[in-house]
Amino acid sequence: MTGPDFEHFCRLVKDRSGLVLTPHKGYLVESRLNQVARAEGLSGVPQLLERLRLGGPSVEPLLVRCVEAMATHESFFFRDGTPFDLLAGRVLPRLVEARAATRTLRIWCAACSSGQEPYSIAILLKEMGARLAGWRLEITATDLSRSILKKAEAGLYSDFEVRRGLTDARRERWFVREEQGWRVSPDLRALVGFRPHNLLDGGFPGGFDVIFCRNVLIYFDVEQKRTVLQGMARALAEDGALFLGSAETVLGVTDAFELTPGAAGLFRRPVGERARIA
Ligand SMILES: C[S@@+](CC[C@H](N)C(=O)[O-])C[C@H]1O[C@@H](n2cnc3c(N)ncnc32)[C@H](O)[C@@H]1O
Repeated sequence: MTGPDFEHFCRLVKDRSGLVLTPHKGYLVESRLNQVARAEGLSGVPQLLERLRLGGPSVEPLLVRCVEAMATHESFFFRDGTPFDLLAGRVLPRLVEARAATRTLRIWCAACSSGQEPYSIAILLKEMGARLAGWRLEITATDLSRSILKKAEAGLYSDFEVRRGLTDARRERWFVREEQGWRVSPDLRALVGFRPHNLLDGGFPGGFDVIFCRNVLIYFDVEQKRTVLQGMARALAEDGALFLGSAETVLGVTDAFELTPGAAGLFRRPVGERARIA
């Protein structure tokens, strides 16, 4: 896919979401746009792009659909294993000691997609049992895409989805069998609040002890990564923990975070950095 209409579309997507559509993704972009065009009763991608180019408020809902269609929503429970082992074995035990006075833990799961990531975190909190009894626990889960948030909020997963990352024991303990699949149990669901949030909008929620932002920065350019990470530095407690995806790093992007030694994917605020960033 090439031409001025397509270039215009790529710019719109990057400005709206940060997603960079490189030429080698042409086929993927075209097939996703084709689906939107068909659903909208348009003859094809050229007509869709032409309509977007007209701009204006009447085109806005169509543009939102197209931008959302460009995002990859791949996710699964306890994805990559290590971050969740580090959270349960290292980060949470330290924070439980550090927050003994307030007995409050706030976790932000940014770009949460269909919800497997925040529910995996909720399972770990629940499995800490008596150590967190009586604590105020909050997981705020956000994503750009309202349609994927609807699925996350419903918390209903197919057999295939629960097989990806969940042990039988965890599935039986934390999910309820329904006709259409497996639904997260009400006590797990109650820990997670979902809401739309665009990482590029800058209005970051604040006061978090842990932030998960995994497998989304990989789609952004370096400037956008820097903006997002600096916003997260302000949103995170000084002794808080940031988890990025296995292909993501802060190196060469920002010095607002540093890698925690011996802990792949786990980042922390360098001493004295908070004052500089504020
Ligand atoms: C590949 S999924 C990652 C899901 C989960 N974090 C994981 O690692 O399994 C990427 C998600 O990022 C979301 N996303 C893309 N651009 C975004 C933006 N600018 N702000 C917030 N979310 C965004 C997409 O809608 C998608 O659900």
